[in-house]
Parts: sequence; structure tokens; C-alpha cells
Amino acid sequence: MLALPSPYRLRSMTVADIPAVLAIDRASFPTPATEQLFINELTDNQLAHYQVLARDDAGGEALIGFAGFWLIAGEIHISTIAVTPAERGRGRGEWLLLNLLLLACALQPLLVTLEVRRSNLVAQALYAKYRFVEVGVRRRYYRNPPEDALLLTVDLAEQPDYCAWLAERERAIVEAEERGR
Ligand SMILES: CC(C)(COP(=O)(O)OP(=O)(O)OC[C@H]1O[C@@H](n2cnc3c(N)ncnc32)[C@H](O)[C@@H]1OP(=O)(O)O)[C@@H](O)C(=O)NCCC(=O)NCCS
Repeated sequence: MLALPSPYRLRSMTVADIPAVLAIDRASFPTPATEQLFINELTDNQLAHYQVLARDDAGGEALIGFAGFWLIAGEIHISTIAVTPAERGRGRGEWLLLNLLLLACALQPLLVTLEVRRSNLVAQALYAKYRFVEVGVRRRYYRNPPEDALLLTVDLAEQPDYCAWLAERERAIVEAEERGR
């Protein structure tokens, strides 16, 4: 996992994080998730792995973003990723994605997949930076508003150096963050 210098921290999501996670989720997606969904994901779903990005502030720990994946039959499926609006565009989403991908690599998957709205060009740029390629379209996959999903994947058989490349990205990001202090 991505070991960020203080005051930032990436760690597993807990049930106590759910209210802060739901606030970010509501500000991030047109169809927000429910409290029950996260409770199920954290307490029932053995296949789910959720992480949060936190920062230690004067008043305690502030949640900046979250992300999660499922591991199903050798395939990692990224189910969600979001950064609180005020913190976007500063590399936080990249930290969350890289952290998930490093955790995924430890599980030796064959494939990493995700869906993204066709209009979500910001997220698509982030995924392209992390070498995801479009392999299909799920017609009208999303509701409110209805929209196609692009199905993106990293095929580890096609990119055998992928996890080593992620480790290089990790070093570069941690060094840049330490230099910036
Ligand atoms: C998608 C999201 C997680 C990205 O997080 P972020 O912190 O804003 O992104 P970062 O600052 O880490 O940027 C990482 C990369 O994303 C892309 N990106 C970020 N902001 C962008 C913008 N305004 N325009 C185009 N590309 C952008 C770039 O590729 C960027 O890499 P670069 O800085 O080397 O150019 C965040 O915007 C978000 O929470 N969006 C709402 C929820 C969402 O759409 N989730 C994805 C569902 S599939």
C-alpha cells in the first residue's frame, strides 16, 4: 500500500468512517450510495476491500477520499473512488487509485476492471494515466441521468511490468510529497 508522509494516511475503511464517506459520496456521484451499502460492504462482503485517505488536522482526522475494490475469481473490480470536492486536482485521486492498485497487485490478479461514465473525462484521464484501456461499452448502465459506461481494464498478462511500474510511481510520488514539505 502507498505509505504517504504525515499528515496523510491511507488506511482501511471502518464502519465509523461511514458518515464522512457518505458525505463525500453525495458530493461526488449523481446516484449516491446508501449507508446500508457501505455497512454490507464492510461487514458482510469478504471480497470487498475499502480504503480511506485521511489527513491529521488540528481538530483530529479529516477524511479526504475513499476507494474500493472487489476481488472475484482473480479479477479486481474497482467499485468506487472519490475525493472531496475541495481537495480535487491535487493528486489525491491518484494517491487513492495507486494505493488500490498496489493492494491489488499483492493479490496477483489477472485483470483489473472498472466502469466509468462516458462523460466523466476527468476520471478517464486518471485511468488512462494508469494504463487502463477501453475494452467495451455497457449501454445505459447508469441511471439519473441515463448514460453508457465505458468498461476499462488493465490486463496483467498484456502488461507484465505493470506492478513494477506502480512501485516506481509510488517511489516518485512519496519523494515528491516529502520534497514539498
Ligand atoms: C475522479 C477523481 C477521483 C480524481 O481525483 P482528483 O484528486 O481530482 O485527481 P488528481 O488531482 O489526483 O489527478 C489525477 C489525474 O486525473 C486527471 N485529472 C484530474 N483533474 C483533471 C481535470 N480537471 N481535467 C482533466 N483531467 C484531470 C489527470 O489525468 C490527473 O493527472 P495529472 O495531474 O498528471 O494530469 C475526482 O475528480 C472525483 O472524486 N470525482 C468525482 C467522483 C468520480 O467521478 N469518481 C470516478 C468514478 S468512475
